[in-house]
Amino acid sequence: MKKIKKFLFSEIDSTNEYAKQLSRTETGDVMVIASRQTAGKGRLGRTFHSPDGGIYMSLLLHPTLPTEKISLITVMASVAMRRTIESVCQKEALIKWVNDIYLDGKKVCGILTEGSFDAENNKFKYIILGVGINVFEPTDGFPDELKNIATSIFPTKIDGIKDSIISVFTDNFFSIYENYENTDYLNEYREKNIVLGKDIEYIKDNELHKATATGIDGFANLTVIENGKKISLNAGEVKIVTDSIFNSKK
Ligand code: BTN
Repeated sequence: MKKIKKFLFSEIDSTNEYAKQLSRTETGDVMVIASRQTAGKGRLGRTFHSPDGGIYMSLLLHPTLPTEKISLITVMASVAMRRTIESVCQKEALIKWVNDIYLDGKKVCGILTEGSFDAENNKFKYIILGVGINVFEPTDGFPDELKNIATSIFPTKIDGIKDSIISVFTDNFFSIYENYENTDYLNEYREKNIVLGKDIEYIKDNELHKATATGIDGFANLTVIENGKKISLNAGEVKIVTDSIFNSKK
């Protein structure tokens, strides 16, 4: 079992923000875990709904892997969390590029990776890997805007399961991260990704683009075919087009 220093909170603004503060004093890898967040941060400047019932955790990492591979840390985490969720609930957990985890067709986990880049040395000083998982249904249910798109691993509380999820995830993550030259996790990321082969939409420079997702390269960039041209997407968000006649053929 991976041993890591942990900072535990019942409530915090954001575990990513706390991990950022810790980066000033902690030279080793540490973990910040909270039962709820009052200002949970999501990707693309969004907020992350973080009531009791979830696990909100951030790993402060000091990676030695090559700078060009840093973005793969998020991929490692999504594969580690996918495996963790499957092992606790025996249901298939899938990944939606880039790093959302889906259960029963709804989002159950989101990941936000932040970092501090040292331009003089051309390497990252630290990376903060923030993971939010809906473990139990929130007591008041999900708010209207999330009802149809979010889910939890379990409908009601199970004693001790959050601790198991944290320790299984930690072991799963570090076994990939510490052996990153073994790229089996990338194959799993591709095989379990729900966007491949689908018609998708994405927004770039305020413009809506329509394309078909065809592959994921060694840096986890999404390859799409748009108007007959091959394009590589490396960030942002894609929406799967569900009412397309092309998708219904698959
Ligand atoms: C997303 O789906 O947009 C990413 C959500 C990431 C949420 C986690 S919860 C723990 C950590 N602390 C935060 O403030 N955000 C991340």
